[in-house]
Amino acid sequence: MKHWHIDQIDWASFDPRKVDPEIVPLVKAAAMVEKNGADYTLYLRGVFHDDPDFKAAADHWGVEEEQHGDTLGRWAELADPGWSFEEAFARYRAGYKVDVNADASIRGSRTGELIARCMVEIGTSSYYTAVGEATEEPVLKEICKLISADEYRHFKLFYDHMRRYLAREKLSFWQRLRVSAGRIGESEDDELAFAFHCGNEPESVPYSHDRCIAGYMGRAMGYYRFRHIERGMGMMFKSIGLTPRGRFADWAAKGAWQLLRWRAARYRRQIDAMPPLGQASPQGAAA
Ligand SMILES: [Fe+2]
Ligand SMILES: [Fe+2]
Repeated sequence: MKHWHIDQIDWASFDPRKVDPEIVPLVKAAAMVEKNGADYTLYLRGVFHDDPDFKAAADHWGVEEEQHGDTLGRWAELADPGWSFEEAFARYRAGYKVDVNADASIRGSRTGELIARCMVEIGTSSYYTAVGEATEEPVLKEICKLISADEYRHFKLFYDHMRRYLAREKLSFWQRLRVSAGRIGESEDDELAFAFHCGNEPESVPYSHDRCIAGYMGRAMGYYRFRHIERGMGMMFKSIGLTPRGRFADWAAKGAWQLLRWRAARYRRQIDAMPPLGQASPQGAAA
């Protein structure tokens, strides 16, 4: 059962005057990645084909992720009445595919798969917390609160199953670290960048990964505060079996924060050199 329903949201209190125009393109992109959760459910069902408990949990998880997509998509349509979530999502689906027929994890083990899922949920939980705290628009604030609570529960769900598999598969610390670092690195792959393209650029503009990831990250990174990184780092440490609160976690959080600020500034300079969204140059030369 879902913890909340899209119709529970107080849509009537939407206030267009409080919409931050820099948040809208991010919400459009996130809506599509979330809505695509159904495909990941199929993938997880294949990887955990003989584990009925996990398959039931994955089904439930997928329904919640899809609802995140529908909710964010509906908000984006309110913020930009000329935008159609359905049309943008159809473009995304046509160009981005998840391997739904896998019968083994692309991470090399089930423990690895679950650690990778933990990393994704840590990222989304921190992200919606950051955006929810930054926005003044009351409906988006409410949505982000509901979604970030779901994402945190998802983290706990995958973490608990991961502990169960770890006892059986006995992945070493270094194997766990490698999977987690690998999945974090993938956050700048096509999944988000292509969603940003389909949500925000006309079809006449060819997709450019570099332009779109800068467009997404340059905006998104600006909403984080140190406390979000500190909390996320604690969750990452926990996922790979390290003490979540301690001097080492503290150093790692400070280092990650410096890196994020440096990269945010670099992406922001790229955005500032681009034409406004919707008018990106056909050659993607501004990337
Ligand atoms: Fe989600
Ligand atoms: Fe999630």
